[in-house]
Amino acid sequence: MSDTYIFDANDLKEIKKLISKYPEVQAAVLPVLWYAQDKFGHTDPDVQKLVSQTMDIPEAHIHGVVTFYTQLYEKPKGKHVLDVCTCLSCHACGGYDMLHYLENKLGIKTGETTEDGLFSLQSVECLGACGYAPMLQVTNDKFVNHLTTEKIDQLIEDLKAGKSPEFESNKMPQHVNGSEN
Ligand code: FES
Repeated sequence: MSDTYIFDANDLKEIKKLISKYPEVQAAVLPVLWYAQDKFGHTDPDVQKLVSQTMDIPEAHIHGVVTFYTQLYEKPKGKHVLDVCTCLSCHACGGYDMLHYLENKLGIKTGETTEDGLFSLQSVECLGACGYAPMLQVTNDKFVNHLTTEKIDQLIEDLKAGKSPEFESNKMPQHVNGSEN
């Protein structure tokens, strides 16, 4: 087993439950990796090894799943992971401008984490909210739609203050639908 990370008895019970939902153990790799990431904050090679040994599935397979999904963190990340969508619709609506604004604001490059460990910045593929471009997701959870530099400033301020951003409704902003209501 990995020396650095362990699953305790309760973890093993939960993992067994997850596995029992699928006809084959291999189909449960993704939910078990999610479980591991929730517990350890990432799925680095040591965590991958632990999952591999716990599920009796080759490490190469676990590694393949982890590297396929940007939502699974191959190495430890900051407290808040900002996933800026730079796929087609978001790109066309200024996704890269938002990404570069965040790079300058946080003083890091895409893929890096701030020195205080508060923020990691990633460029990601389509998050399924193309109509609300440009957008970003905070640590695999809340979406922030129709990004502007002002919204980003507010978001960073809120996160630093320990406030969780609200999931934004999909209501179009006034400047997009031309309505005052
Ligand atoms: S292109 Fe950004 S959410 Fe789809």
